[in-house]
Amino acid sequence: MFDSADTPKILSKTKAFLNPNYSFSLIDMEDLANCIRFHEWCYYVNNQPVIADFEYDQLFKKLEALEAQFPDAVDPDSPTQRVGSDLSPDFDTVEHLVPMLSLGNSYNAEDLKDFDEQIHKLALIPMDQAIEYVVEPKFDGGSVALVYEDNKLVRGATRGNGSQGEEMTPNARVMRSIPLQADFLSKGMAKVELRGEVLIRKDNFEKINKRRAAEGLSLFANPRNAATGGLRMKDPREAAQRGMDAFIYQLGYAANSEGQDVLDNLPTHFEAIELLNDLGFKVPMDVSKVCANINEVAAFCAEWEAKREAYPYEIDGMVIKVNSKAIQDKCGYTAHHPRWAIAYKFKAKQATTTLKDIEYQVGKVGSITPVAKLEPVFLAGVTISSVSLHNEDFILSKDLHLGDTVLVERAGDVIPYIVKAIEDARDGSEVKVVFPKVCPVNDTEEPVELVKTEGEAAWRCPNCVCGAQTLQKIIFHVSKPAMDIDGFGKTIVEKFYDLGWIQSIADVYSLDYEKIKHLEGFGEKSVEKMRDAIEKAKQNPIHRLLHSLSIHHLGKKVSSLIAAEVDHVLDLKDWTIEHFTNIKDVGPIVAENIMEFFSQETNIQLLEQLEELGVNLKQTEEDRPKVVDANAPLVGKTILFTGKLVQVGRKQAQELAAAAGAKNISAVSSNLDILVVGEKAGSKLKKATALGTVEIWTEEEFLNKINN
Ligand code: IVH
Repeated sequence: MFDSADTPKILSKTKAFLNPNYSFSLIDMEDLANCIRFHEWCYYVNNQPVIADFEYDQLFKKLEALEAQFPDAVDPDSPTQRVGSDLSPDFDTVEHLVPMLSLGNSYNAEDLKDFDEQIHKLALIPMDQAIEYVVEPKFDGGSVALVYEDNKLVRGATRGNGSQGEEMTPNARVMRSIPLQADFLSKGMAKVELRGEVLIRKDNFEKINKRRAAEGLSLFANPRNAATGGLRMKDPREAAQRGMDAFIYQLGYAANSEGQDVLDNLPTHFEAIELLNDLGFKVPMDVSKVCANINEVAAFCAEWEAKREAYPYEIDGMVIKVNSKAIQDKCGYTAHHPRWAIAYKFKAKQATTTLKDIEYQVGKVGSITPVAKLEPVFLAGVTISSVSLHNEDFILSKDLHLGDTVLVERAGDVIPYIVKAIEDARDGSEVKVVFPKVCPVNDTEEPVELVKTEGEAAWRCPNCVCGAQTLQKIIFHVSKPAMDIDGFGKTIVEKFYDLGWIQSIADVYSLDYEKIKHLEGFGEKSVEKMRDAIEKAKQNPIHRLLHSLSIHHLGKKVSSLIAAEVDHVLDLKDWTIEHFTNIKDVGPIVAENIMEFFSQETNIQLLEQLEELGVNLKQTEEDRPKVVDANAPLVGKTILFTGKLVQVGRKQAQELAAAAGAKNISAVSSNLDILVVGEKAGSKLKKATALGTVEIWTEEEFLNKINN
């Protein structure tokens, strides 16, 4: 019925329908339904979605709203009247004991309030009587239905089209989280059907992809694809290697030996989940909550939205279910979903937009970074209009063309990136991106050819005195990881550079503060602050100065290692390669780069000039190598401080921790051993608690430990 060639035409319709200002009328109903059918085909049949899930959901909602407005015109074959299908002729088709429906969607607390109101109305319950809900994670994997007869697992099936699924019993049998036998008979149940989601842990997914990469196989885009693919494998031994887990979230059908429905023996959904837990199933009991009212539901959803990244499985939202079966029965079902449940979708992580242009930026050591300029798109709370494309290899691997429709993703704190170009959306007007061979921003008359060192991904401009590179070097010099000149950021450097006040790093230390005072946006006080910050930076330990010089590959750690070995920065003029490489963790490449830097007269002059201006070039106590006692209390531990500490400052606490042998790290991950929490600790605490492997200490406990 559909063909990939239809993509450009349907995508342009899709874009129009997704425009918040589009005003729908009855004549759009058929087109909108067709649009949705096409995207269902792309997703379920062609395995090649061309829009983000969130955008599909929006189209679906719009059709539902339009059909609610014109109920007489609803096509019985409308996408809203049935669930999506992933049936394949390769598997036996089986009939589910009760249809596996989908869920309606909500996106914010307002939608949840509307849902709650609707439940009150349907169940004829006055608004002042709160309804109890169970809230569970919405697992992002492949759905399954499991049938047990006389305590034995007799069938596993995918969701299929909702009424019929594909039989995959051998694959269900290899999943260790699915018991092959469970004592349902003791609960008066002879035949049951359970609903659940098959998932692959995120860490396991990484391993699977690594293995596939080593074997030269194509990589899975995400754990969901790996799981749905695993469910439908022909060879259960191969399925077993995926290490799939099944979370059971619903008891869909239960009958006694006379065939009578006994579901209602369990008056609430949560009791059903507890029963399944008792029988040995993996259920979302410890990650779900029974909420007394819809406000609690909204708060729990927000809590999970903040900590979803730390959870070991991919989840794309929460599912809210009326707990009481009696109230569920009063609400009933639509053809598509139960009216007593709703999904709360987390903010979209993916969206599609157009690649309009590519800008090439020059970095502090001349590396050329291509940056995609996108048609602005709203994604997970922010508008995105440009994303880094990293290097030429990235562009080639995605086969990017100007004018392409691209899929953009933003996961958690991760910087947004282009997942892929949607090839089917091309209409022939797109132009393949060709990476420049000469510097695109160089300010010399003659073009400067870019160079690429073997083993490096970036093309670099060898003209290290070009204006663009110098500006980036100054911006880095004043930045936090380098000289850390408080309040002296990129914008100010750019402004002073444009005014001709700063042309080299040394100019930072000889600014004319009187002139700055008269600039718009500056006043007496802010200039005073700037002067103080610059004066303070002059006293920095020399590892900061070394790092701030933008020597290729010279990072913070190696700067510190080298700084610990010299009395004066200019001593490095006389160092040989052996001096450097005798230091553990200092390699020959960075050594060569430092030697090259110190062999150039202009650089020596710069350092001498800095010293004349009062910048410290001499060894300081902070740089002297510290010997940590092997018996110090925190040797071998990693530590992180969060929230406001009251007895010591953050920096002091970090120094105390380092002196006690601990390594300060900057983020919560499985590498973290200890999190010290001060007042008003936020997401780091939540993340660490969810990991379950991090020791959580108060400031008091920390101080006691190091003092002992
Ligand atoms: S309940 C009748 N609970 O979400 C109840 N579904 O569109 C219907 N899903 O693919 C589903 N986690 O497999 C429910 N805790 C959860 C869920 C969940 C994931 C999936 C389900 C289906 C989709 C619903």
